[in-house]
Formats: sequence, C-alpha cells, structure tokens
Amino acid sequence: MTPREIWTLDTRRLGRRVLVFDRLDSTSNVAAGLAESPDNDGVAVLADEQTSGRGQHGRTWTCPAGSSVLLSVLLFPPPELRRPAVLTAWAAVSVCETIAELTGLEARIKWPNDVLIRGRKAGGILIEQRAGTVVGIGLNVNQGAEDFAAAGLTEAASLAVFTGQRRDCGTVARQLLHQLDQQYDALCAGDRATLEAHWKGRLGLLGQEVVAECADGAHRGRLRDLTWDSLELVRTDGGSEWLRPEMVTHLLPA
Ligand code: BTN
Repeated sequence: MTPREIWTLDTRRLGRRVLVFDRLDSTSNVAAGLAESPDNDGVAVLADEQTSGRGQHGRTWTCPAGSSVLLSVLLFPPPELRRPAVLTAWAAVSVCETIAELTGLEARIKWPNDVLIRGRKAGGILIEQRAGTVVGIGLNVNQGAEDFAAAGLTEAASLAVFTGQRRDCGTVARQLLHQLDQQYDALCAGDRATLEAHWKGRLGLLGQEVVAECADGAHRGRLRDLTWDSLELVRTDGGSEWLRPEMVTHLLPA
C-alpha cells in the first residue's frame, strides 16, 4: 500500500509525516500498523475514502469519497495523557477550533466524542489504545443534506450544509493537524488548564440540570463542576456526588 503523497508539516509533534492515501479500509488500521516503531510517534494517516471506517460502539463510519476529513494519528502519549477522557477532549476541542477558524461556526461537543454544529453531528472521534494510541477523527466537510438523507443520517451535517461552500479536505486536514499539534504540545508542556477550560466551554452544560448515564444507571443533578478527574452533580437534596468521567457514557441536559 503506497501513499499518494507524503506531507511534512511544520509542526512540533504531530504531522511531521502525513501519509495521504486515495482509499483505505480504515486510516486507524494503517496508523495502528505503524505502532511497532516509536519513531512513528505523531505520524498521521489521511484517506479520501474508507471501505471499513469504524465509529464508536462498533458502528461503521461511511461517507462519499472526498467528502470528509478521515484522519488518524498515532501517538505514544506520556502516562498522564494516556486517558480516553483527556485524548477525546483534546481532539474534540481541536476539531471545534478548526471549524471556527475555517467557517466562524461555533461547534459544540456532545459528551463524550461528538462534534455538533447547531445540534447536528458534523464530526466524531474514536480513540483506540493498544501498542500505541490511535486517535481517529472524521469530520464531514462537503456532503449535502441530500447525501445525509440518502444515508438515513438525518441528525448529521457537514460544513457545507451550513456554509453552502465546498472545501478541499486536504486543506481542512492541514489546519486540523496544526490545531491538534498546538494543543497537544501545550498538554505535553504541562498546560492542562487551557484545554480543559475550552472543553468545558464547548460542552456548554456547566450550571445546568443534567443526566449522567453510567453503567449503574442515570445520575441526575446540577452540574456544578467538570474536570478530567471528576464531574460534580448537586442533587435536589443539596448533597453532591462526584463521578469519574470514564464512568459516564452520556451526559445530557435533563
Ligand atoms: C464516532 O463514532 O463518532 C467516531 C467516528 C470516527 C471516524 C474516524 S474516520 C477516520 C478514522 N478511521 C476510522 O475507521 N474511524 C475514524
């Protein structure tokens, strides 16, 4: 399998080598296959099309060729960053910031890994950790409303749906890689507060009545605080309960 192009971006940690393919089964498979060598830390894999794209919960991720950014990055993060809650927040914030830079649209994060524009899903993140960490990102760029309707994805959208403008997915991917790199570099340098604050803001649920769905059932309360270590819910009796982010499968307005 030979990449169509290899880019070398002027970044610090991610995307100094980007392998660009026409068609792959999954960009995350190719990135995972590079994990045997730590020298591949930060290598990114892009494809115009995937034949077996994976989503969360064993779902498939399919989209027309050339319509989306299909990106996977291989990382060997330091132990304190090797947590799905942190990595998902980092990738989701980076996608939101990229959307804002390109379109001016204010994207939101839907817990834990969806990126929404005006309530419709425009992107998703899939973290897979084995020998290395593979961060897979799908961002819908050029699909029209009719493409989503034909695929039965009535809750989905792309940048084009909101801007009426088609874009080169390669250009969007480069911008996203720069954004991911900047945020990751800050995290590696020990600045967790900036990204955590952006993540909280983009979730948009602080101070609201929420339902946190966990394996042991639904927990309800006002979301007093939210960090990568805990969610604090204030119950109607005034007592607080704290949940680990990893326990929470969905976090929704009540
Ligand atoms: C989700 O279910 O929301 C996560 C979707 C992740 C899709 C991306 S596309 C690039 C990478 N390769 C895959 O097979 N999946 C991820």
